[in-house]
Amino acid sequence: MTEERLIRPAKNVYGSLRLPGDKSISHRYGMLGAFAEGTSRFSNFSTGADCASTLKCMEALGAQVRWLEDGSVEVTGVGGRVTPCSAPLDCGNSGSTMRMIAGLLAPQEGRFTLLGDESLSRRPMERIRKPLEAMGARLTLTEGHAPLKIEGGALKAIDYTTPVPSAQVKTCILLAGLQTAGVTTVREAVRTRDHSELALRAFGAQVERTVDSISICGPQKLHAIDAAVPGDLSSAAFFLCAAALFPGSNLVLDALGMNPTRAALLDVLTTLGARVAVLNLEEKNAELVGTVQVTAPAEGLGTAEISGALAAQLIDELPVLAAIGPFTSGGIRIRDAKELRVKESDRIALVVKNLRAMGAEVAEFEDGLDVPGGQKLHGATIDSGGDHRIAMAFSVAALRAEGETVIQGAESAAISFPKFFNLLDLVAER
Ligand code: S3P
Repeated sequence: MTEERLIRPAKNVYGSLRLPGDKSISHRYGMLGAFAEGTSRFSNFSTGADCASTLKCMEALGAQVRWLEDGSVEVTGVGGRVTPCSAPLDCGNSGSTMRMIAGLLAPQEGRFTLLGDESLSRRPMERIRKPLEAMGARLTLTEGHAPLKIEGGALKAIDYTTPVPSAQVKTCILLAGLQTAGVTTVREAVRTRDHSELALRAFGAQVERTVDSISICGPQKLHAIDAAVPGDLSSAAFFLCAAALFPGSNLVLDALGMNPTRAALLDVLTTLGARVAVLNLEEKNAELVGTVQVTAPAEGLGTAEISGALAAQLIDELPVLAAIGPFTSGGIRIRDAKELRVKESDRIALVVKNLRAMGAEVAEFEDGLDVPGGQKLHGATIDSGGDHRIAMAFSVAALRAEGETVIQGAESAAISFPKFFNLLDLVAER
């Protein structure tokens, strides 16, 4: 069933929020906790459907998952040996679940089948098959896509350079390397989010890092931890961009993940002229956490160009940055972001389609788009394509549009952020 949401324009964005736990970190804590020895406890674990998919798969593989009354989750791990399971593992909409679990399972004895929903079944999986096969794993795909079948067994260590910057692929290889004798190395031209390296260390593994490589010497055992998951900066992006749109806004987000490999959005907002303050910075399980305060410039937002390594680092925030582009003075130019076409939807095509539906001029390129500034948007019907980040990005643009906007497929927000619309209503002054 698809749900429609009506978004009315706002006069201002004001308030203070604490956001649910980071999706990327929750996937990793959930997966590693379920694989480790002992019982881990995670507070502020992501409430999104994607991380629930990870936990469900890990339960099917023998881990125990218990939600506690205070909202935290207790995960008892399998101690390094999963229970083979004949039923397919359903990864839902989650590319992270499928790509990372594949690395965890490839060195395990047994046969496993991973499948996903329609969107996930369209996404490229060759990127994990190549390195896993180089390690000696046996994988079957259907024309490069899920369902993914794995015939698990002992692997050999490799030294692999990722052709596309991808933290999911990096993690897949590291999780296989964790269980494989010898040193497995992943080299990447652009440093992608490093939550896996930090989480593996937090669970007791040794991981070596150079400027452009990460190595793990297997086999190693993981041990349970207690951890608080930092607030999700990619979810925060919608609120930070919303606040940046209204001179007179003031938004404070507490206990937000501030990992430098994720925080490029704060630089872009600063470039655009927003005032961004980071307070109370501290380190928890090697992840930085802080309070972020954003106020919009009285003279309005300027201009930004996002390309090269920055595009890879901001990949999840690009839809919302493009969606606020019309409200800048000099526009937003995005290049080197071809990966956007193979996310939960073709995010370039959908951003272009929906900006045009709202009356904006926009130029589409194979690897990005140009959104000229100084434009007005009118309310429209938005096609989210069942993609959570498209639904949320255009809810933000709708706050500054003239007239009301209808978001189709609004239920998709629950993939990463079930309470998104409630929180948006809390801080949007009308
Ligand atoms: C993620 C990595 C990114 C990102 C996704 C989550 C992760 O994907 O788009 O939302 O948790 O590792 P890629 O690694 O495929 O770029």
